[in-house]
Amino acid sequence: MMKKLLNVLNGEKVFPPPVWLMRQAGRYLPEYREIRKQAGSFLHLCQNPALAAEVTLQPIRRFGFDAAILFSDILVVPHALGRDLRFEEGRGPIMTPLQQSDIARLNRDNALSVLSPAFETIKKVKAQLSDNTAIIGFCGAPWTVATYMIAGQATPDQAPARLFAYHYKQDFAALMRCLADVSAEYLIGQIKAGADCVQIFDSWAGVLDEQSFAAACIAPVRYMVQKIRAACPKVPIIAFPRGAGLFYRTYAEKTGVTALGLDWTMPLSFAAKLQEKLPVQGNLDPLRLMAGGEVLSQGVEAILSALQYRPFIFNLGHGIMPQTPISHVDAMLNQLRALR
Ligand code: CP3
Repeated sequence: MMKKLLNVLNGEKVFPPPVWLMRQAGRYLPEYREIRKQAGSFLHLCQNPALAAEVTLQPIRRFGFDAAILFSDILVVPHALGRDLRFEEGRGPIMTPLQQSDIARLNRDNALSVLSPAFETIKKVKAQLSDNTAIIGFCGAPWTVATYMIAGQATPDQAPARLFAYHYKQDFAALMRCLADVSAEYLIGQIKAGADCVQIFDSWAGVLDEQSFAAACIAPVRYMVQKIRAACPKVPIIAFPRGAGLFYRTYAEKTGVTALGLDWTMPLSFAAKLQEKLPVQGNLDPLRLMAGGEVLSQGVEAILSALQYRPFIFNLGHGIMPQTPISHVDAMLNQLRALR
């Protein structure tokens, strides 16, 4: 197979490792800012397959990454369920906070058709990608998506969603089930449209105690993995439970995902242990990439010395920062590609 990313996800060691970056399409690229202006709103951009395909391809053309990731957002799922959503400059996503009584009214019947522009985007991207470049579909994990639905915005500690889960256990379980169902169907649709593998982003997995982590992070993703595998048995599933720390191991065992995305706080010795069980992806601190120079090359070097001996995908430990100089991305890629 010519797609290095898929070889790694199938358990092969590839050297130099394949590389892509979380949030690789975005504001650090002038060509993105140009299209973003044309599209008007961010949501319009996500829902316009021609423009979304174009921004998906921009970082591939510029950097030759080993994978393209569908351009969209994790919050298109609650939007498709009928929740209002807008993105404000400098504030991020804004939604009307979800109440208990809203859960039964989530519009599941219509959701997949509202989400269908993403399927068109994937088809358009696929038609323009070389055989060496994989296309990754994605969605948010139910827990992370719920944190935004319940608070109505980004929060420092996700307290509104954590409290909601404690106060209204049944309603919270119903919300998790609904999100897991629709998100799994959404990923299956992306795979049928041509995605080679999928990634589930659980950006706020790191704020839960052990019981809550089992209920809100492990159980819904396990359910999604089973549902996706029933429809598409061979397609690799990467999960990124950011900040899950010591829970990463039971998370891998219990969810059954194919590979783990690691955040930058994970010690590399612990990462190498996990890698004995499954392929791993990560985990450069995005601020090292922003800083550049020695701190960047030393970060890359440390990760490679720990993780190059088993199946490994090079990535950041979270999304690239909008202030990141493009020359630093080039320097990082030169360092990786010079490996022999
Ligand atoms: O990786 C890619 O290039 C694909 C596109 C992608 C976006 N968002 C585009 C985006 C992906 C995979 C996401 C995932 C996402 N979205 C996550 C999980 C990963 C993570 O970063 O934790 C989360 C939590 C969101 C929700 C979200 N979307 C927030 C909090 C924000 C505001 C902060 C910010 O970066 O602006 C967004 C907006 C967003 N999503 C932008 C982009 C390119 C910026 C919007 C703009 O261009 O004006």
